Amino acid sequence: MAAFRLKYMSLGVLVFQTTSLVLTMRYSRTLQSEGPRYLASSAVVVAELLKILTCVLLVFKEHSYSMRALNSILRQEITHKPIETLKLAIPSGIYTLQNNLLYVALSNLDAATYQVTYQLKILTTALFSVSMLGRRLGVYQWLSLLVLMTGVALVQWPSESASAAEEEVLSAGSQVVGVTAVLVACCSSGFAGVYFEKILKESKQSVWIRNIQLGMFGLIFGLFGMLAYDGNRVRESGMFQGYNTLTWTVVALQALGGLVIAAVIKYADNILKGFATSLSIILSTLISYFWLQDFEPTGVFFLGTILVIVATFLYGYEAKPAPNPSRA
Ligand code: C5P
Repeated sequence: MAAFRLKYMSLGVLVFQTTSLVLTMRYSRTLQSEGPRYLASSAVVVAELLKILTCVLLVFKEHSYSMRALNSILRQEITHKPIETLKLAIPSGIYTLQNNLLYVALSNLDAATYQVTYQLKILTTALFSVSMLGRRLGVYQWLSLLVLMTGVALVQWPSESASAAEEEVLSAGSQVVGVTAVLVACCSSGFAGVYFEKILKESKQSVWIRNIQLGMFGLIFGLFGMLAYDGNRVRESGMFQGYNTLTWTVVALQALGGLVIAAVIKYADNILKGFATSLSIILSTLISYFWLQDFEPTGVFFLGTILVIVATFLYGYEAKPAPNPSRA
């Protein structure tokens, strides 16, 4: 019962986190018009740091707020098990590569094409779950994943006027580069997520310790990234240039995202994570329509929404598809 509660609670928080992150980022873009912009590479580093600090606090709490116990568990699990720790460099490195690939994709594709194509990660995640974790999916579940992918693609389908204007700017060559980058990112997203899930579910170790290990590598890669891309600007005006309350909110939400994704992978799985993020895409679009009034839903959007909701129910329809050891 507790596992059931944790599973749906973590999925619910993921929907909340993804929705508020999208809306805050969007709001910060429309609001911030003057002054220096914050460096995205610095935000990544700060979010990583925040994530590590929060995980250390959570481990501290798990050990009844004892400094001695915290110190000993961190040494025992991180310093004294270098091979186990190094295993986390793989998903961390892949996530770093993925973030850069998505940047390449967004520079070569319009945002809608990028988002629609990136939904293929729902299928790559399912394929990696089957091949790496031995998970078995029933016919209804495969069908629901296809319906989900189609639904999300329709929800994000570009409106005609925007795509026509953007298409003129984007050459066929850059389209190929952009689509290739997204496709590789779909594979890396599926692989890294399932690899992290495998590590979590194969050992009894606390998810927060695993996240500290992942974050440590993320921090190292992020610092390298910041110095490589924005080294000069950081030396001139510091890494916190352009930060305001909104920036800190985005950074905090991003850090929360990493924590919630880890909890979802632990208590639910990567496939259900796909459903939670799909629902939050719809939720943020609807909120953006009702509150920010910067979006006009089309018939295609409603059709996509219906498909996503149908897929969500369809996925749970086949009550017992096959014995599934790792599902909570
Ligand atoms: O698109 P996708 O779902 O693969 O994105 C996952 C994101 O979650 C990545 O940016 C990754 O850095 C982050 N993550 C995290 N902590 C985890 C797992 C993923 O910060 N334990």
